[in-house]
Amino acid sequence: MKRTGARAHKTWLLFLLAAALAVGAPAPSSHGRVPEGEAPAGPQAPPGAPADHAADPAAGARLYQAACAACHGADGTGMPRTIVGFEEPLPDFTDCSFATREPDADWLAVMHDGGPARGFARMMPAFGAALSEEELVLVLAHVRTLCASDDWPRGELNLPRPLVTEKAYPEDELVYSATVAAEGPGAIENELVYEKRFGPRNQLEIALPFGWRERGSGRDPADWDGGLGDLAIGVKRALWHDLDRGSILSVTGEVILPTGDQDEGFGKGFTVFEPFVAFGQILPADGFLHLQAGLEIPIGEKDANDEAFWRAAVGKSFTEGRWGRTWSPMVELLGARELAGGEPVHWDAVPQFQVTLNTRQHVMANLGVRIPLDDSDRDAEVLVYLLWDWFDGGFLEGW
Ligand code: HEC
Repeated sequence: MKRTGARAHKTWLLFLLAAALAVGAPAPSSHGRVPEGEAPAGPQAPPGAPADHAADPAAGARLYQAACAACHGADGTGMPRTIVGFEEPLPDFTDCSFATREPDADWLAVMHDGGPARGFARMMPAFGAALSEEELVLVLAHVRTLCASDDWPRGELNLPRPLVTEKAYPEDELVYSATVAAEGPGAIENELVYEKRFGPRNQLEIALPFGWRERGSGRDPADWDGGLGDLAIGVKRALWHDLDRGSILSVTGEVILPTGDQDEGFGKGFTVFEPFVAFGQILPADGFLHLQAGLEIPIGEKDANDEAFWRAAVGKSFTEGRWGRTWSPMVELLGARELAGGEPVHWDAVPQFQVTLNTRQHVMANLGVRIPLDDSDRDAEVLVYLLWDWFDGGFLEGW
């Protein structure tokens, strides 16, 4: 297996190169992030006018009191409905659980173009004509001070989700994903993943796989078997996050239970413990990187070996217009090896693109192809997911 070895070696180098790039990357300038006191970058951004108030943080607070407090309240918790005279509930900017997950770019879009820019109510007016970009950034900087805790990782670190590699960011998401065999006998594997945050840095994850597999060669639906796979339950915790560096690191412990119908080929038949670390890095020019490495440890099964896996995803986001739909092409590199003498390393590449589907940008889809890179006789697969960030609103809201 010399050929595989040489190729594996090359892929390893690529992996290390990506990691080195990430660690050595300068402080990110973008990915939805607008540094304090700077005008947001973008095609229509005004030429960098000198920041008059930049040295005066109180200017942001004064502008907020003048332009926003009538509705959002002097303290940012929102005025009562009886006073504002409309029904739309006002957000509470002091609630870190809500405020920290919204990236600056989303809030600037709403402040500049009004609520409808992100599928919110028209009662949230557009300030793009009344306030300069520089003033909007100052107001936003003030709004950011209303959540007093910095324990909560900021939404900028919630990078576009790859098809296979796990994100480091703890999220409130519901993801439906499907894997369809591109060659060989028909097989469709699906998975529903429910993710729920608790506390500033933790997340519970429950994954329920189910699928269909073709038995014979006929096209008759009776030739397909269906079944549930192995249910996985995990807990993630962000160990460290730093918005200035654009980095987030988390650990996850997952238990995969043998709930699947092994005879039909849906499940391993034994429990697996899967610990892993995940790292996310914002790269310059709206680029991003995910790294994940972990182990699959069979519990009480002598015939199964431990397996190590390592994954990387690199990509870049493109936004239509200033605040519109975001396209995030990326490529994943997946490696895995059973920890037993003579076992080969398996390598796969997964070119793919994620796209936000609605105005709120909280429903997204991703489509890609998993291509085996080694000599094993595994087949290529088509992968797709539909992701709903349910904290940001109902599935049908904000289209
Ligand atoms: C006339 C009342 C009014 C004024 C004035 C106002 N807002 Fe709002 N704002 C709203 C309402 C109502 C919403 C909620 C819209 C919804 O949820 O559909 C909102 C939502 C927002 C959001 C979106 C929060 C989210 O859910 O992501 C931001 C950010 C925001 N306002 C910032 C500001 C800032 C900054 C100012 C001052 C420059 C301001 N608003 C002035 C009424 C107002």
